[in-house]
Amino acid sequence: MDELPIPENAKKLYLEMGIVDLYPPQEDAVKAGVLEGKNLVLAVPTASGKTMVAELCALKHLSERRGKILYLVPLKALASEKREEFEKFSKLGYRVTLSTGDFDNVDPSLGRYDIIIATNEKADSIFRHRPEWISRITLLVTDEVHLLGDGSRGPTLEAVITRFRIINPKAQLLALSATISNSDEIAGWLAGSLVTSSWRPVDLSEGVFFRDSVMFRNGRNRKVEGAEADPVARLALEVIRGGGQMLVFTGSRLSAVSLAKRLEPAIRGALKRREETRLLELSSQILKLGEKTRVSEKLSMAVANGVAFHHAGLTYLQRKAVEDAFRSFLIKCICATPTLAYGVNLPARRVLIYDYRRYEAGIGQTNIPVMEEKQMAGRAGRPKYDREGEAILLARSEDERDFLMEQYVLASPEKVWSKLGNASSLRSHILAAIATELACSQEGVFDFLDKTFCSFQYGLNSFRSAIAESLEMLLGEGMVKSEGRVLTATPLGKRVAELYIDPKSAVILKNGLGVRRSGLPPLSYLTLVCHTPDMPKAYVKRKELDLVKGYLESSSDLFLYDLAQEEGFEYDMLLSEVKTALLLKDWIEESSEDAIIERFDVGSGDIYGYVESGKWLVHSSHELAKLLGFGEALRPLSDLYVRMENGVREELVPLVSLKTVGRVRARALFSAGFTSFDSLRRATPAQLAAVPTIGPETIRAIKEQLGGKVTKEEWSMMKERKGTRQLSMDDYG
Ligand SMILES: Nc1ncnc2c1ncn2[C@@H]1O[C@H](COP(=O)(O)OP(=O)(O)OP(=O)(O)O)[C@@H](O)[C@H]1O
Ligand SMILES: [Mg+2]
Repeated sequence: MDELPIPENAKKLYLEMGIVDLYPPQEDAVKAGVLEGKNLVLAVPTASGKTMVAELCALKHLSERRGKILYLVPLKALASEKREEFEKFSKLGYRVTLSTGDFDNVDPSLGRYDIIIATNEKADSIFRHRPEWISRITLLVTDEVHLLGDGSRGPTLEAVITRFRIINPKAQLLALSATISNSDEIAGWLAGSLVTSSWRPVDLSEGVFFRDSVMFRNGRNRKVEGAEADPVARLALEVIRGGGQMLVFTGSRLSAVSLAKRLEPAIRGALKRREETRLLELSSQILKLGEKTRVSEKLSMAVANGVAFHHAGLTYLQRKAVEDAFRSFLIKCICATPTLAYGVNLPARRVLIYDYRRYEAGIGQTNIPVMEEKQMAGRAGRPKYDREGEAILLARSEDERDFLMEQYVLASPEKVWSKLGNASSLRSHILAAIATELACSQEGVFDFLDKTFCSFQYGLNSFRSAIAESLEMLLGEGMVKSEGRVLTATPLGKRVAELYIDPKSAVILKNGLGVRRSGLPPLSYLTLVCHTPDMPKAYVKRKELDLVKGYLESSSDLFLYDLAQEEGFEYDMLLSEVKTALLLKDWIEESSEDAIIERFDVGSGDIYGYVESGKWLVHSSHELAKLLGFGEALRPLSDLYVRMENGVREELVPLVSLKTVGRVRARALFSAGFTSFDSLRRATPAQLAAVPTIGPETIRAIKEQLGGKVTKEEWSMMKERKGTRQLSMDDYG
């Protein structure tokens, strides 16, 4: 650390954290010139400290060039962990932020931050607005760069990097990954040096468990200690008794939940008395993190026993609570879906890969890629927490043990192949390039795409026809126009690029709204947004078929698009769209979370996910209606947006526009007869204070927003009275 060309106060910060020497791969990165501005692909094992290389590089930029850093990650969970890690830079006077929020909106204050952490998708949407500060970025870090090969999200990352390099050719690029076998190709694309290594700070033993022992990669066999008949419980308890913890990866949410349940008695038996007490506290806190639902009850029950499940159906707060309690050695075992597979630092001395098969929509059961298995394995043995790590796959037969040994333990990750070269990914990125004037002619579009990883790997000729097809679609739908050789985005095309929706979604919305019917119910708009490719869709289970089909038949005249008639893929999609729209309809009719969970067999996290995407598409519909002059749809869509945002019926739309009034308080006010701004203006503070969930702070906020105020006497009277009242929402903040 002493010899590094970074400011003294930064060195001190690292020393205080106990970081004295660089790890060998970090040293290699420095030798490769990463601190001198050279582009670099750092393809070194999990836990080998790639983040710190990015940090050192960032420090160099900040202290010498007054630069700005953009750090890209694939997942929100990883984004918040990185934000916490970079937070230490604020002690040095640098400003760090996590960019979240709507896609159609660039927070103008971002320009003031030194380090911006964002997901790849968020960065893509920001770039489409081309804020001035992009040209001030001097370092772009792309973490988990192997995601370039991911079918659904790789093309976005690829387009972001390509666009960034054109806008800002002088900036330094640093790409990080533990699991790429063709890192030389990525380095070639980025014109960067390559550092590879097999060094890991903590030894990771990989093996396969069968019957009662683990066979490791060197052929050594070791019996797992313990008398438990349940093999997973035995694997968990052995490591817990030794002071470690276990992270289990399952193939589905259902199996994460049921495996956690199965482990409850065994893990409870290994708890110390004082842990039991703290876990009981945590268990009741979990119930208070949001509405009480059957999922939060199950989680709370598991946590009381020292075990938890973790998947995308949980809310952000629930997941965070589980991760934090695992980090503080309170929860001993987590059963997770791949939500925890990438990049995170957790004290898991042992990782158990319980399922290596997973259901993929449209394909069926598949074996997970080696890359993903290696990422999961890499969560074990992190230097901050453990001196050794073990990653174990579970075999159900001897044959399977041999198969897993060969297929995963002894295998190398797959190569990363670009997935950009098809029309459905290309159209969106071509439109963005034209709308932001990075490409102004057909040749310009080809030149732009010639700079992608796809072209680097396959050559431009391999996807020329897909490019032509996409351009034709954009021209035909009036998003791009051509005059001679010049291509420009029409106002529609520009807005679609900014809204960050797939051009195909825009066509669906445009055609649907173009039916121009007034007085349509919300369900018409909801099914329309659910019909777009940008909307995630809820899978229809067999037992739900009657409900969904029934709805479809009884309201088919309300749809704003042509319905698939025959059984088959399109029809199955239609059923999923209807189910998703019905879920959103329940949400805006004030159904409780638990009722939605029960009716649609989803988790709270899913509800939020559908609502978020639905809101974004309702907003997009509103913007398109405005642009296209479809006036009759404006009011219904803006009301629908407010209802989606708050989960309320139409009658509460005005009330929830008040700050500090959410769906619970709005309903309480409405039920007490305060149904409009006027009635709220007329009400005395004492009358409002009698409404459940309405405390003094809320009353003051309401009064002030409506142009009134609360007098000193009224304020102190309310405060006094509040002291004697049992429960008010104000107490929850
Ligand atoms: N030189 C060092 N000395 C001591 N600890 C270090 C050093 N460098 C990094 N660490 C610690 O190592 C841990 C792992 O680092 P990091 O998260 O950057 O790994 P990574 O290489 O990104 O792994 P992954 O591929 O799994 O994301 C962190 O807790 C970090 O604080
Ligand atoms: Mg990392």
